[in-house]
Amino acid sequence: MRTCMWVLALLLVFGFAWEVGADQNVPTERISGSAGDVLEDDPTGRLKVYVYELPNKYNKKILQKDPRCLNHMFAAEIFMHRFLLSSPVRTFNPEEADWFYTPIYTTCDLTPTGLPLPFKSPRMMRSAIQLISTNWPYWNRTEGADHFFVVPHDFGACFHYQEEKAIERGILPLLQRATLVQTFGQRNHVCLKEGSITIPPYAPPQKMQAHLIPQETPRSIFVYFRGLFYDINNDPEGGYYARGARAAVWENFKNNPLFDISTDHPTTYYEDMQRSIFCLCPLGWAPWSPRLVEAVVFGCIPVIIADDIVLPFADAIPWEEIGVFLAEENVPNLDTILTSIPPEVILRKQRLLANPSMKWAMMFPQPAQPGDAFHQILNGLARKLPHAQSVYLKGGQKILNWTAGPVGDLKPW
Ligand SMILES: *[C@@H]1O[C@H](CO)[C@@H](O)[C@H](O)[C@H]1NC(C)=O
Ligand SMILES: *[C@@H]1O[C@H](CO)[C@@H](O)[C@H](O)[C@H]1NC(C)=O
Repeated sequence: MRTCMWVLALLLVFGFAWEVGADQNVPTERISGSAGDVLEDDPTGRLKVYVYELPNKYNKKILQKDPRCLNHMFAAEIFMHRFLLSSPVRTFNPEEADWFYTPIYTTCDLTPTGLPLPFKSPRMMRSAIQLISTNWPYWNRTEGADHFFVVPHDFGACFHYQEEKAIERGILPLLQRATLVQTFGQRNHVCLKEGSITIPPYAPPQKMQAHLIPQETPRSIFVYFRGLFYDINNDPEGGYYARGARAAVWENFKNNPLFDISTDHPTTYYEDMQRSIFCLCPLGWAPWSPRLVEAVVFGCIPVIIADDIVLPFADAIPWEEIGVFLAEENVPNLDTILTSIPPEVILRKQRLLANPSMKWAMMFPQPAQPGDAFHQILNGLARKLPHAQSVYLKGGQKILNWTAGPVGDLKPW
């Protein structure tokens, strides 16, 4: 009874405006992360990026072969390329560049069912680096320390979709000195290099916008989740998935009336998130999933169940204040934990989520918008400047080992 009463008390919601600042009624609050109040910074004038011109086979041709790459959760690599081509931070003079960008699409090799397989990515990457290091002097100057690469696949530049294999491979040796922009974020993991920029996965902005419901719609669902609890066939005997965290959600709360959880993916999925107070974001194969982006965009407080996760733009966004964090082993206490959060804390989280700058930071819209994920990436790169003198190698000095790594990676692409 007590629970029901305060759930009702929470049905008061704060909507959000898609247009930045369009709705004066939306209570906004400045959002500050560990790097300070940087979410709305404008990167223009703070860095210059040189975009290498590569043959189409590294990017456009790959996309032509499979246009589905524009819609999957790793599409940021394509949109970042397009964004940079017309960005005011782009320079055509490499001598004045702070950062070098190599447009290469490593996650656009899809199986018939649309699953990206990065098996060719290491060879492709090596081929591209060979090309830029032979045709321009800038790679050899730092061996990539002033270069960044967008590698959004599950385990980033480890280039394998299975965690054990990814760990065994490690980050591609040629990328050891580069800055990686990746979706994968887990602390103390060989596939997350110090200094990487963690980005949100891609969720199609137009599609989300098409499902917006009136801001004043009450949030009548307490906890919402749609997705698999067990393996790919949702078979409880099918092996260990999500380190058991999703199975624990199902087994503990399938009959709890506060929990609207199921494997069915309804057509009202996005609308349902806008009618919910808490949206579960448990780990899957990787610590993250597009659910995090969807929860934020739809103002549903993300309940993050993924030990050691590194969240997108974590130095610009105070995730602890916005979401709820739960250790994987604590899943059985999820109901108690959520129902004991004081209403004012929930309202504050909803208010932070209602800030349009939060939503833009999670999206890669076309055309780009101030403060969107593209701008957060650039701001992250700008905050790393100036480069330390030590990144510039002394005449002829070589650090990278071009023959390290699995022999199969050395074959020409
Ligand atoms: C960069 O160094 C490699 C050897 O490591 C060499 O083959 C290549 O020609 C150099 N690039 C330039 C532009 O001098
Ligand atoms: C480079 O890596 C290969 C393969 O692991 C190894 O045999 C070789 O000794 C390494 N070269 C140097 C200079 O470390």
